Amino acid sequence: MGKRSMPETSQDGGPHVPVLLDAVLAALSPLAGKRIIDGTFGAGGYSRALLEAGAVVIAIDRDPSVQPFADALATEFAERFTFVPGTFSELDTLAADHGPIDGVVLDIGVSSMQLDQAERGFSFMREGPLDMRMSGQGESAADLVNTLEAEPLANLLYAFGEERKSRRIAQFIVAARETAPIKTTLELARIIEKAIGRKPGDAHPATRSFQALRIAVNAEFDQLVEALFASERLLAEGGRLAVVTFHSLEDRIVKRFFDPDKGGPAQSRHLPQVQSEALRWVDVAKAAKAGEAEVARNPRARSAILRAASRSGAAARPVSYEGLSVPRIRGAA
Ligand SMILES: C[S@@+](CC[C@H](N)C(=O)[O-])C[C@H]1O[C@@H](n2cnc3c(N)ncnc32)[C@H](O)[C@@H]1O
Repeated sequence: MGKRSMPETSQDGGPHVPVLLDAVLAALSPLAGKRIIDGTFGAGGYSRALLEAGAVVIAIDRDPSVQPFADALATEFAERFTFVPGTFSELDTLAADHGPIDGVVLDIGVSSMQLDQAERGFSFMREGPLDMRMSGQGESAADLVNTLEAEPLANLLYAFGEERKSRRIAQFIVAARETAPIKTTLELARIIEKAIGRKPGDAHPATRSFQALRIAVNAEFDQLVEALFASERLLAEGGRLAVVTFHSLEDRIVKRFFDPDKGGPAQSRHLPQVQSEALRWVDVAKAAKAGEAEVARNPRARSAILRAASRSGAAARPVSYEGLSVPRIRGAA
């Protein structure tokens, strides 16, 4: 997470405000007549702008609660908009019946709706069940905090939240659940605060742990890696991929995926230089961030980073985590 982490606040009540929208559109342009996958539909901010620019959009989201936003766009742009429920790790399979694709956009992370709705359990500021499942399926955050032993729990908080006080937090969690299972967001937030204290002016002590649990519950790193390689398989030469991330652990994965040489081991100057593998991605754009005006309008944009590149003609690679610096939980299989 480094210095950047997901802000906990968002535009209360209103739907998600799209982040870095102009830069995303520019990264995918020209758009008229192009077929674009919006892999993270959310409230449809990107999809709408892509449709208004003349593109055909195939939108994906794993959260069933976005359906009303999708229905509204399907009514307005009947000919050019399709919504496919599912995970973006499978975007090439989900798009298989939709013809050749010219571009993919991913806006990784939680939406304002998910954060703001207390009952989804993503926020340590709002009392709700400790859930955090974007799809509503599988293990919840409560399942993890109530069943993992102290050591694997600490390892999870450290790997996915870069929480340096992970051991102490895990000990407090394990002690607290001996009395009764931890069921709600604020219960967990209070336990973490008791474990590591709270300094005025600092981020809430539960920030990193909540991020770690959310990433684990939704297998967010695996989803991202799979989606990057799925895009590589799907896009033909010249196809564009644009990815917006919200913390440095994710941004590093995207950066290294586009430019594997940057992440690889340094070559010894005493050995013959090894020829770099064929580049799968070219025209790799410099990372783009929100300007002051956008951050003032939408504080959530503060930590956003957009990376974009064009597909080369080189054959797609098999999925591999090597060189991507994907955080791994110590001791996990
Ligand atoms: C940051 S929001 C996207 C907001 C959108 N760009 C907009 O303008 O409204 C991220 C969305 O991606 C979805 N999402 C996250 N991970 C996903 C995954 N692995 N597969 C499919 N959808 C995912 C979330 O459910 C959420 O609705």
